[in-house]
Parts: sequence; C-alpha cells; structure tokens
Amino acid sequence: MFVANWKMNGSSIAVKEWLNIISSSDNLNKCIFCPPLLYLKEANEFISEKKLTLSLGAQDIDPENNISLTGGISPSMLKDVGCKYSIIGHSERRNFYKEDSTLLINKVSICLKEGIKVIFCIGESLEERNSGQTKEILSQQLRALDGFSSENLMVAYEPVWAIGSGRIPLLEDISETSDYLINELIALGHKQEEITILYGGSVDASNAKEIYQLKAVSGLLIGGASLDGEQFLKIIG
Ligand code: PGA
Repeated sequence: MFVANWKMNGSSIAVKEWLNIISSSDNLNKCIFCPPLLYLKEANEFISEKKLTLSLGAQDIDPENNISLTGGISPSMLKDVGCKYSIIGHSERRNFYKEDSTLLINKVSICLKEGIKVIFCIGESLEERNSGQTKEILSQQLRALDGFSSENLMVAYEPVWAIGSGRIPLLEDISETSDYLINELIALGHKQEEITILYGGSVDASNAKEIYQLKAVSGLLIGGASLDGEQFLKIIG
C-alpha cells in the first residue's frame, strides 16, 4: 500500500492535477489518497468520473458520530464523500493536540464500527530513541490496539525524528522494528496473516523501493514527497 498524506497542503486545482498525473499508474489500486478534508468531495467526484481505482482516506477523524461537536467530522460524513480510510494518531496530532491513548482508542473504535479502515500511526521521538526507549514507547502506543483486530487496520511506523527531516533509520532498523511490531500485535491477539505494517518518515523516490522491499514492511506512508505527482508516480511504479 502507498498512502499519500498531504497534511495541510494543496488546493482544488492541485488535487485534480495530481490525480491526473498519477492516473497513468498500474498500481493505483494500492494507493490511498489523504488530502485535506475539504478536498475529499471533489477528489471523490474526479475518481468516480475517471473510474480510478485508488482509495480515499482522511487524515484524522472525530471519536463520535453526529453529536453536538463544533467543527467535528464523523465517520458517516467521511463515508458520504467516498472515504474508506482514516489516519489516526499521527505524531503531529499527538504532539500538537496532545491526543492521548484514550482518545485514540475511541477514534479507532468508532472507525471500525462504522466501516472506516484505520491507518494507526506510532513512532518514537529522537530523545526516546537516544535513551534506548524505542521498543517500550512503541509497545505502549500499540497497546491502544488491544481488543481490536488487524483485519481493517494497518499500523504505520513513523519515527518522529524521521518525519520531514530527510533522515531515515537504517534499513536493518526498519526491518527489525517492523518485525517487533508484528510480534507485539500477535501478543495482543491479532492474527499474523492480517497484520500490515507501513513505514513512514522521509520516504521519497530515492529510498522508497528499498524500504518497500523489506519483508516485514507492506507499504509506505508518504508526506512531503507525495505532493509532487511525478515523484509519487515514481514511488508507486
Ligand atoms: P514525510 O511525512 O514523508 O514528509 O516525512 C510522513 C508523515 O508524516 O506522514
């Protein structure tokens, strides 16, 4: 899978231009496009009109369906605009909005209940990595997935220090950490054959292939490099 996370970037025109560029790929069915919420509707219209096979995802979701919550976006609204996935727990939201496990569990829960598939992000900070806490932190974050299954859920390993920095861990590290995550999920009762681990953090056209080829990695979550249609096309092949 290839997830394009546009974060707070783009415009109506950029969305259409981007979809036009990547529509020539044979791997569109492996792509999930996550533009800002505002552009989901027109992306969906474009995708339907051109009969493209890529899926749409939101970058976040609220943990309730249609309650009195100013500014809220519910799973049913996302489904209404053709959205099949939602990113949950991205480090930018964990840090900026102090999103904690309790909130994230509620978000995962409502998504799975309402039929939105989850891309659950986890990752250690540089400080945590340097103090040898990576595995402990990742296990703690993964515990939010206790009681759920991996059938409609993917875990994206995104070291916080690798996001937008141009730095990625060694391939051996990505591989070892992904294996570790698989084992931790199995320990939480997830079925091995359903587990999907994505890697994210400074993925671009120059490093995507070697990361994607790692046995334990089933896909990539791409931020900055996904904004450029030509580069994203190179990444997805
Ligand atoms: P990046 O972002 O590819 O720009 O590092 C990835 C992400 O934060 O999802």
